[in-house]
Amino acid sequence: MSTTLPEPTGSLLLRTLAMPADTNANGDIFGGWIMSQLDLAGGILAKEISSGRIATVSVSSIEFKKPVKVGDVVCCYGECTRIGRTSMSIHLEVWVKPVKEDGVKDRFMVCKATFNYVAIDSQGRPRPIKPE
Ligand SMILES: CC(C)(COP(=O)(O)OP(=O)(O)OC[C@H]1O[C@@H](n2cnc3c(N)ncnc32)[C@H](O)[C@@H]1OP(=O)(O)O)[C@@H](O)C(=O)NCCC(=O)NCCS
Repeated sequence: MSTTLPEPTGSLLLRTLAMPADTNANGDIFGGWIMSQLDLAGGILAKEISSGRIATVSVSSIEFKKPVKVGDVVCCYGECTRIGRTSMSIHLEVWVKPVKEDGVKDRFMVCKATFNYVAIDSQGRPRPIKPE
């Protein structure tokens, strides 16, 4: 009997490695570092969608479900869930693939969030995403 493994939502936007310098007082990876990776990942997608500069305007939700460990391969996935006149909402998920001495383990989700971005012009003012 085959079992279906859970899958990330959206496309792979960013992949990096959790390093010892990114740990908190418990020795796990600092939540602020994970938020930073999410912001970068969502920003990449928002730039592509709006074909230009963007700014992060808010974070609607964020949930840390499991700790990230040093040496984990950290993958950020995302998809756009809303496009307004000048703003976008991006659903983001962080999945890790632990690599241990005894092999590569199945990936699992550690964090999910919704980040909001605004398309901006060269003066930093909101600009329409689609030509008006
Ligand atoms: C982002 C920024 C340009 C928006 O300017 P603003 O004058 O507040 O913009 P407006 O009130 O005209 O709103 C623009 C859009 O943002 C949305 N928006 C504003 N505040 C929001 C919030 N807190 N959450 C979600 N969306 C928001 C509005 O609904 C509007 O969307 P729409 O055009 O799709 O309907 C401005 O707030 C800013 O420069 N903030 C600092 C950004 C920053 O430094 N980020 C961190 C580093 S990237």
